[in-house]
Amino acid sequence: MKVSVKVPATTANLGPGFDCLGLALPIYNEITVEETVMPGSGIEINIIEDSETYDILSIPRDKDNIVYKAIELLYNFVGQTVSDIKITIKTNIPVARGLGSSASVIVGGLMAANKLLGNPADDAVLLSIASEVEGHPDNVTPALFGGFCLSSMEDDGSVSYSKIDWPKDWKFTVLIPDYELDTRIARSVLPESVSIPDAAYNVRKCAMLVDAVYRQDSELMKKSLKDKLHQPYRENLIKGFKELNELLANKEDILGCVISGAGPTILVISKNDGFEKVENEVIQIFEDFNVNCDIRTLEIENEGTKLV
Ligand code: HSE
Repeated sequence: MKVSVKVPATTANLGPGFDCLGLALPIYNEITVEETVMPGSGIEINIIEDSETYDILSIPRDKDNIVYKAIELLYNFVGQTVSDIKITIKTNIPVARGLGSSASVIVGGLMAANKLLGNPADDAVLLSIASEVEGHPDNVTPALFGGFCLSSMEDDGSVSYSKIDWPKDWKFTVLIPDYELDTRIARSVLPESVSIPDAAYNVRKCAMLVDAVYRQDSELMKKSLKDKLHQPYRENLIKGFKELNELLANKEDILGCVISGAGPTILVISKNDGFEKVENEVIQIFEDFNVNCDIRTLEIENEGTKLV
């Protein structure tokens, strides 16, 4: 028997919501999990690249693979051990770009393996295992459930989350550069601790952001898409981010410009033809840095992981 699922890409943080805000985008990976035909054949991991643009060679094909690790935790949860299993990942989500490719394969592997086992784990268990493997819940929650989610990993390892309707006319443009940034490196540049004023700044911006989405208030959203916890430390790793923020500040119908997850993709949130009006100037900034950039304007994906 084999099970295939389709999982959306995600963008996390949205500026102030470090490790807690995220939303799903319509780019998909497909993950298939099957019991291998020949007993004793062990673990087999195949990766099929849908798009030729992105390097997938860095993805481990053995027990260090995060999909395998997630599936192993699920089997342990139900009191079983993984023996012979074949995992096939059809990738379309750019790897190491801040678009939740790891979250998507973790969630996909778990959902498919759970189905193979007869669905012993409910959503709460899957979310908790996925967050444990990923390290934080902000990408895995929208990958599983779709839409705009806020999530919190609790002390007992469970994850609390809410899904809030995203305003229909707020669009996303992802600026995906031609270089990778490993999340571990992007996290290693963050300080061990931050000042109370910086923490308080983020607390109020994040609270404002959630209220802005809830009330669909674009003026409040413009004031909310700001951050002092991670972006100031990461901006030197992300070519053009500072220049882009300067360009887009106070432009009509641009709500904000933030790092997508840990980067290096940059996320611009806009209304109407706000992005189209500045697109040429945006392209020029990347050209000045000699960076090729895949620019895609997308709407939110309100559905999460689905069986294929
Ligand atoms: N919240 C995470 C970070 C997302 O910013 O490091 C990337 O996994």
